[in-house]
Amino acid sequence: MRNKVTVVGGGNVGASCALNIAFKELADVVLVDVMEGVPIGKGLDMLETGPIEGYDVHVTGANDYEPTANSDVVVITAGLARKPGMSRDDLLMANFDVIKSVTEQVVKYSPNAILVLVTNPLDAMCWTAHQVSKFSKNRVIGMAGVLDTARFRTFIAAELNVSVENVTAVVLGGHGDTMVPIVRLSNVSGIPLTELMDQATIERLVERTRTGGAEIVKYLKTGSAYYAPAAAAAEMVESILKDKKKVLPCAVLLEGEYGINGLFVGVPVKLGSRGIEKIYEIHLTSEEKQALAKSAAAVQELIDVIKPKMA
Ligand SMILES: NC(=O)c1ccc[n+]([C@@H]2O[C@H](COP(=O)([O-])OP(=O)(O)OC[C@H]3O[C@@H](n4cnc5c(N)ncnc54)[C@H](O)[C@@H]3O)[C@@H](O)[C@H]2O)c1
Repeated sequence: MRNKVTVVGGGNVGASCALNIAFKELADVVLVDVMEGVPIGKGLDMLETGPIEGYDVHVTGANDYEPTANSDVVVITAGLARKPGMSRDDLLMANFDVIKSVTEQVVKYSPNAILVLVTNPLDAMCWTAHQVSKFSKNRVIGMAGVLDTARFRTFIAAELNVSVENVTAVVLGGHGDTMVPIVRLSNVSGIPLTELMDQATIERLVERTRTGGAEIVKYLKTGSAYYAPAAAAAEMVESILKDKKKVLPCAVLLEGEYGINGLFVGVPVKLGSRGIEKIYEIHLTSEEKQALAKSAAAVQELIDVIKPKMA
């Protein structure tokens, strides 16, 4: 039996993610978008890449949800992306409406799917999808931490001129300016970061990680990053479909863990065939706890705005 993944939103992130999934031969892919014909054309283009790259998966596009029926995983990237000068939170109201209607359609055709959210503001969109789908919390997962840690790892590796493969980084919190890179637990082949660079360098890399999205938006002008975000979402899909049980930082609904209740916030989790199979609650210093609480408070502010719209 082949797996089936639907990617909703066939724009920059969605189309790149679909291609990543095809390259890895993880599943047949259905790309859905409201732009008439566009996902169908992109799907066909990706299908015709198969003979060259040697993948046998079917990639199709659609403007409706019927072809998505019985998907194992649905990646949701539909909605507006940032432009220069915008924060992720500026997208709140527009993308709330998109995620609400997309989730309703997805759930109707794939009641057993695992949802991987990408649309920003990420943590608030996860909350919306969870409310609308009424799925158990292990089946609603947000992609942010894999990207944020990839950025931190990239900057650390470049600074030290070492392989990115040897760099482990930990980033907690919401996917926004208040994200919390945990320097204490970040290392290069087990060597703590604090032994490899001075405090000023570490702070510079932490700040670059926090503003990593905006750095790219500034160059692109008409949109935001998509290659790394797409690869990050595909890594999560792979861990789920292959039941790899990778431990990855993802946005999940916390119910008391880290002293946070009822909010989606990025923490390390085990990702397998049942979606989130474990939430790791790691011991934090009081300073780290404070930073995480501040990040959660920023997520709560967004939820307070959209909650009345959900009733
Ligand atoms: N979580 C993260 O780390 C992360 C990283 C990058 C981008 N993002 C977010 O992902 C989203 C997509 O970014 P992008 O660069 O691909 O944007 P994009 O504009 O290239 O693509 C978005 C697509 O969504 C489609 N769309 C809009 N409303 C829809 C609906 N109701 N149903 C189906 N499709 C719909 C649009 O037609 C468009 O093709 C943005 O919200 C962006 O901020 C998140």
